[in-house]
Amino acid sequence: ANKKVGIFVGSLRKESFNRKIANYLVSIAPEGYDFEIIEIGQLPFYNEDLDNGNPPAEFVDFRKTVSGLDAVLFVTPEYNRSVPAVLKNAVDVASRPYGKNVWNGKPGAVISSSIGAIGGFGANHILRQSLVFINVPAMAQPEAYIGNVAANFDDSGKLTKEDTQKFLKDFIKAFQSWVEKLL
Ligand code: FNR
Repeated sequence: ANKKVGIFVGSLRKESFNRKIANYLVSIAPEGYDFEIIEIGQLPFYNEDLDNGNPPAEFVDFRKTVSGLDAVLFVTPEYNRSVPAVLKNAVDVASRPYGKNVWNGKPGAVISSSIGAIGGFGANHILRQSLVFINVPAMAQPEAYIGNVAANFDDSGKLTKEDTQKFLKDFIKAFQSWVEKLL
């Protein structure tokens, strides 16, 4: 069967640049892989009280989806030099209840982007801090900080800038090797 890679986008905005990057990644999934964007905006804020016996359906479904993945890819903007709350919430939801962390052991990678020049460096690394704890081994190299991201798309929102396409194709090639080394 094809390997399943879930892509988690740290922005809920309709015209999100990060989602457009994620859409491009879906379009370049290697042979033998299915890349799929996993929605996170429907998840209630994590609250341990919700996990006392009868968790919300959104939590149950999301945990089931994550547990069925072979690998995970995070594509995120930076909010105030950190990880957007909606993405951190998704990390938290699938890490609980205690002892049932469904991220556990899944190979991962992080791409950050920004309309500014620094490319979401802060978000990228703060996310990696949580990935250590939930035991998602995140690919170290190549790193992906996509700065001045707005310049990458055509009017229909497709990622058309050629050097970014090449960069992302190389990134995904490395990610594939990383996944295959660990699975
Ligand atoms: C931002 N933005 C931003 N950019 C950055 O490079 N570093 C930062 O710390 C922040 N902080 C920040 C906070 C908040 C609350 C918002 C809404 C935005 C700008 C950000 O890069 C820009 O809005 C991107 O377009 C967000 O990504 P999407 O939604 O296009 O994927």
